[in-house]
Amino acid sequence: MSEKKVRKAIFPVGGLGTRFLPATKSMPKEMLPVVDKPLIHYAFEEAKEAGIEQFIFVTGRNKHAIEDHFDHSYELQSTLRKKDKKKELELTSDWLPEAGNVIFTRQQEPMGLGHAVWCARHLIGDEPFAVILADDMVLSKKGCLKQMTEAHAHTPGNILAVMDIPLEKTASYGIVDIDKNAKNKDQRLVKAKGLVEKPQPKDAPSTLSIIGRYILQPDIFSILDSTKPGAGGEIQLTDAISAMIGDKDVYGYRFDGVRYDCGSLVGFVAANVAYALEREETRDRVKQELDEVFKRAKL
Ligand code: G1P
Repeated sequence: MSEKKVRKAIFPVGGLGTRFLPATKSMPKEMLPVVDKPLIHYAFEEAKEAGIEQFIFVTGRNKHAIEDHFDHSYELQSTLRKKDKKKELELTSDWLPEAGNVIFTRQQEPMGLGHAVWCARHLIGDEPFAVILADDMVLSKKGCLKQMTEAHAHTPGNILAVMDIPLEKTASYGIVDIDKNAKNKDQRLVKAKGLVEKPQPKDAPSTLSIIGRYILQPDIFSILDSTKPGAGGEIQLTDAISAMIGDKDVYGYRFDGVRYDCGSLVGFVAANVAYALEREETRDRVKQELDEVFKRAKL
């Protein structure tokens, strides 16, 4: 069975980024760079690779830098043009989506991820869509969302990227209650019979955690209309997806790749190292520098 193509992606970018203060005092956390690209740019590239055509950002106050990033920068571009700096010019604008395909709406109050997604309901309409959380990065040959859209093409329903985590970390993630009786043709898919947002380890139904990539059916919006605040007093996307089970299938997708949690300081630093080592032009010199750093720190 094939499903409607996933053409639209929501990027919830309204969060305050308090874990990165003072860096995020006047700059959105999504603009923090990993090597030389902002987090949101990686998320955008991953969406584009997966065939996404419309990029919907749910922003908040003080997030202008994200809008500016997806626009021309006339002064900079004209200076680069005059100096004939072709490569730099390409980096500023060659990747810009066609006008009209980048859409911004505001979440006026930070009421949770479910609320942020709900804010984009009129922009999605009646078709499946993706949600990408820019602070979850996945380093992989084929982008995580592309892997998921391929799975979605043969398995209709909702698909969430998942990975196993240590039991003591369940309170930081949405956790899948696995339907062990379900038979899945695709070995990477795991059927869910429930989802729990940030359970304590003793209450966790498994150690399979949701990471920030989702393919969702538009039915989620009518559920979000009446989803009550859950964990942390916020309207949780996890609760709304869980409420869909029964009417619509929900699957975890064990993606191929390494996930970096750039919502945490340590994950962010690790991502910078990993992405710099991944790039051919920086790999050897970065490795050399790191060896020196470790030697100096006697590690
Ligand atoms: C959100 C979701 C959670 C998911 C996580 C992945 O939590 O609510 O279910 O596991 O993203 O990063 P947050 O990190 O916004 O607290």
